[in-house]
Parts: sequence; structure tokens; C-alpha cells
Amino acid sequence: MRLKDKWALVTGGSRGIGKGICIGLAKEGCNVVLNYVGNRAAAEETVGILQDLGVAAEAIQANVGIRADVERMIAEATASHQLDILVGNAGVVDMQPFLEITPEAWSYQMDTNLLGSFNIGQVMGRYFVDNNISGKIVFVTSFNQEVPNATQGVYSISKSGIKMLAKVMALELAEYGINVNTIAAGAVITDINKKQVEMFPGLVDRLNKIIPLHRWGTVEDMAHAAVYLASSESDYVTGSTIFVEGGIMINNGMMINVVEE
Ligand SMILES: NC(=O)c1ccc[n+]([C@@H]2O[C@H](COP(=O)([O-])OP(=O)(O)OC[C@H]3O[C@@H](n4cnc5c(N)ncnc54)[C@H](OP(=O)(O)O)[C@@H]3O)[C@@H](O)[C@H]2O)c1
Repeated sequence: MRLKDKWALVTGGSRGIGKGICIGLAKEGCNVVLNYVGNRAAAEETVGILQDLGVAAEAIQANVGIRADVERMIAEATASHQLDILVGNAGVVDMQPFLEITPEAWSYQMDTNLLGSFNIGQVMGRYFVDNNISGKIVFVTSFNQEVPNATQGVYSISKSGIKMLAKVMALELAEYGINVNTIAAGAVITDINKKQVEMFPGLVDRLNKIIPLHRWGTVEDMAHAAVYLASSESDYVTGSTIFVEGGIMINNGMMINVVEE
């Protein structure tokens, strides 16, 4: 077991990719504090799954976009055990064409995704430094950290910002033995894109064609990368990104034409 007796904090660990990462960490013996914002039932269900895997687990409510919430959560989580790993995964998306983006939609996504990553990253970074912990920090971004999706402008900007946040943190925290990396996730069917998948019935098949590996990602795909970046196997990796997106970025949209013609 690669993470036996470690403790990880996973933001947005109640559902979707965060839940999958919690399970992946737990399978390697890692105890987990999982964070959620509103869905207590889902958080408790995930805690139960983790405990059944034989690790200790607890859930703490906090909005990562609110600094006081994040400080309270970390104080609570570290009161009874040492944290070794942070997975900053909490994220939201809202779809608007660029000319229709409202200030509210901008704030909603930037506050959760980018400000939330800064809040959790800085408070945990300070905790690691003050306690001489060679911590591992992993942010879940998206392939949109590199290329935008139409109608997901704010989301893409926020993910690009997290990529640079991780590089800044990696540079300045390296001397404390802290590694900071991102996972650029590809498309995974979760609650975050359920509406989109329902609105565009052809989307699932279309992506299966466009993606060079011809399938959507799974939460387990993301968990494998998170376990690697949380473990000592990645000690010489920092300021970096693992792309777990089936090759979608190397395709440039060409394969769909080839397949269709
Ligand atoms: N699914 C994809 O295709 C995809 C692709 C690339 C990247 N990603 C990224 O992967 C991450 C997880 O996405 P997902 O697909 O698993 O989404 P999801 O199923 O909608 O889950 C979102 C999680 O984030 C939590 N959350 C939302 N806002 C929060 C806040 N302000 N403070 C704390 N927690 C908050 C939710 O908590 P509650 O349960 O309490 O609501 C939930 O646990 C996101 O950063 C997303 O951008 C997803």
C-alpha cells in the first residue's frame, strides 16, 4: 500500500471525480477528510464507502470560495491528526456564450474554482510549512487549462489560472519539500455535465469518436493519477501536469471528420 497511514484532505470529495479519488487513496491505505459544500447525504455515503475499505474517514462542510470556511475546515481537520496530502478538486461550471457571461456567473465559477484553489492551497501550504511536513498538493484542473471550450469561457479561464497557481506554489514551496501538480482531466460523466449530456444527446457518441482513445474518462482514471501524485513515487515531479484526457488535445478536432467522411 503506497499511502498507508497518511491523511488526505480532498475538496469536493462527496461526489464524482473527488469521490473516485477518495476511494483510490483509501485503497492505498490513506485516511481521508472529505470536503463538501451542500450535499451532506452524498458526503456521508462516501465516508461509509471509505470506512468499509478499512481507513478512517470524515466529512467537513465548507465553501472553498470563503476564506473563513477553509480556515475553519483545516483547523478542524488538523486538530486530531496530521494532514499529508491535499487534493483541491472542488469545482463548478456554468455555460454561457462569451457575450452573455454575467458578473454573477463569472464570480460563481472564479470564486469556487480559482479563489477556492488559492484559499485551500495557501492555508494548507502554510500548515505544511509551519509543521515541517513535506506535503503533496494536487489540483484537479481540466484539459481546459490549455484550450477553451465554447460557452465554457469562465470555467476555462479559471482552470488556466489554477495551472499557473500550481506553478507559482511549486516554485515557492519546493524548498520546503512540498510538491504541487495538476491533473488535467478529460471528459468524465458526472453531475457537473449531466445537464449538458441531456441537452445534447449526441455528445456521448461524438466524444467517443473525437477522443483518440475512443472513450470518456472514468473517475478511476483520475484516481490513478491522484494516487501517483500523492505518493513518494512522484517526489521528483513538481509544477507539472498529468493529462488524463484520452488524447483529446492531440486530436485538434480532425478525427471526427475522418470518421464521418
Ligand atoms: N466531469 C468532467 O468531465 C470534468 C472534466 C475536467 C475537469 N473536471 C473537474 O473535476 C472536478 C470535480 O468535478 P466533478 O465532475 O466530479 O463534479 P461534480 O460531480 O459536480 O462534483 C463537484 C464536487 O465539488 C463540490 N463543490 C462544489 N462547489 C463547492 C464549493 N464551493 N466548496 C466546496 N465544495 C464544492 C461538490 O460538493 P456537494 O456534493 O456538497 O455539492 C462536489 O463534491 C472539478 O474541479 C471539475 O472542474 C471535471
